[in-house]
Amino acid sequence: MTDKHFKLVNPETDKSVDIPLHEGSVGPAVLDIASLYKEHGVFTYDPGFGATASCKSSITYIDGEQGILLYRGYPVEQLAEKSSFIEVSYLLLHGELPTKEQLQRFNQQIVYHTMINESLLRFFHGFHYDAHPMAMLSSVVSSLSAFYHGSTNIHEPEDRDLFATRIIAKIPTIAAAAYKHSIGQPFIYPRNDLGYCENLLRMFFAVPAEEYEVDPVAAEALDLLFILHADHEQNASTSTVRLAGSAGTNPYAAIAAGIATLWGPAHGGANEAVLKMLDEIGSVENIDKYIAKAKDRNDPFRLMGFGHRVYKNYDPRAKIIREMCHKVLKKLGKEDDPQLELAMRLEEIALKDEYFVEKKLYPNVDFYSGIIYKALGIPVSMFTVMFAIARTVGWVAHWQEMISDPATRIGRPRQLYTGATRRDYVDLDKR
Ligand code: CMC
Repeated sequence: MTDKHFKLVNPETDKSVDIPLHEGSVGPAVLDIASLYKEHGVFTYDPGFGATASCKSSITYIDGEQGILLYRGYPVEQLAEKSSFIEVSYLLLHGELPTKEQLQRFNQQIVYHTMINESLLRFFHGFHYDAHPMAMLSSVVSSLSAFYHGSTNIHEPEDRDLFATRIIAKIPTIAAAAYKHSIGQPFIYPRNDLGYCENLLRMFFAVPAEEYEVDPVAAEALDLLFILHADHEQNASTSTVRLAGSAGTNPYAAIAAGIATLWGPAHGGANEAVLKMLDEIGSVENIDKYIAKAKDRNDPFRLMGFGHRVYKNYDPRAKIIREMCHKVLKKLGKEDDPQLELAMRLEEIALKDEYFVEKKLYPNVDFYSGIIYKALGIPVSMFTVMFAIARTVGWVAHWQEMISDPATRIGRPRQLYTGATRRDYVDLDKR
């Protein structure tokens, strides 16, 4: 794989250590420190994994300095303009764009699996009406593992494919059931003649009492948002799915672990947090006060939807969503949304502020996505659920890549221990 090496010198023994350097197809090379402990008795230390590649992957590439995002080599801007979420799902899972027949077959398989077992629907009755939908989503997705005993042998490629189809097909149905439960409306069954996003919108907004027509503008906007959220290499939730999956756990349980991680406001929960923040700021006059709060080290307030571990430039997804925001709101007749105006002004002020410039803090994917979800009628508490639906395909692609790699071992990080050294137990009456 490589013939380049780095040399490290151990100051205690003066011995030098050869560290092999592996180059990928593009992007930074990695130092292979796998034998460092065995040969030299030291670990490496990188809290937050800012400089650690946890695996090899050929799914998604990000250049954070340039603001580039490629799915299987294709720029996300081209996919956003020309592709569909279902086609992007095929691409992420299989590595290549599908032919017409492959796409049709893939779509049919997804459509065929959209229904969920009726017993799963009864799970929702156990939740209080105001349960957070992410809590319901992760629990019910985890419960899918109790339904498919005969077809989740992770070492069988056919079982893995069936799992992939099932979870991508069923997650919108589960999300819609969670929404309907939270507003006390009857569940709406999926319809096989509709596209992925049309079906989702119908399951969300139709009621049995009357006909419902899906707004094509809304379906198109949702499809585009799903493309942009479909994958983002080794982010916290994807790494969680990989780590859980590396132990050989049931794949539905691994996806549930990913959903739990995505929920956090530093990750996918940011889209919900952005709208709450805009509500709190209230009006343009208050922006300076909140910018000052975000800059104050003693204040926990952060500008939600700003900053990213990898992007030190404008998040390419945010750029697309920002443009789309205007178009969609105009088409839906909601272009005078005061929150959009507030968000744009906030962005403008932050991008000129020395603190944000110096720290290279730019709007991320979540800054504008909530405004579109809101315009589509999706309630704020469902925003992260929308993200989870789209990201499921990325999680599955990474899980598949990992499980089918014979070199995969259980993920098991080490630590720098700073606790007490060995000491003897003291009897209770002597303490
Ligand atoms: N507002 C104010 N200051 C910030 C912000 C922000 N949103 N983000 C980072 N900083 C500061 C941070 O305080 C730190 O300052 P200093 O160097 O003085 O200690 C510096 O910028 C570097 O930040 P960091 O916390 O070390 O960066 P990180 O890579 O650990 O965290 C992040 C990345 C996304 C968690 C963080 O930028 C953040 O909390 N942003 C707001 C939440 C958000 O929008 N999350 C969505 C991320 S994109 C979608 C996704 O991943 O799901």
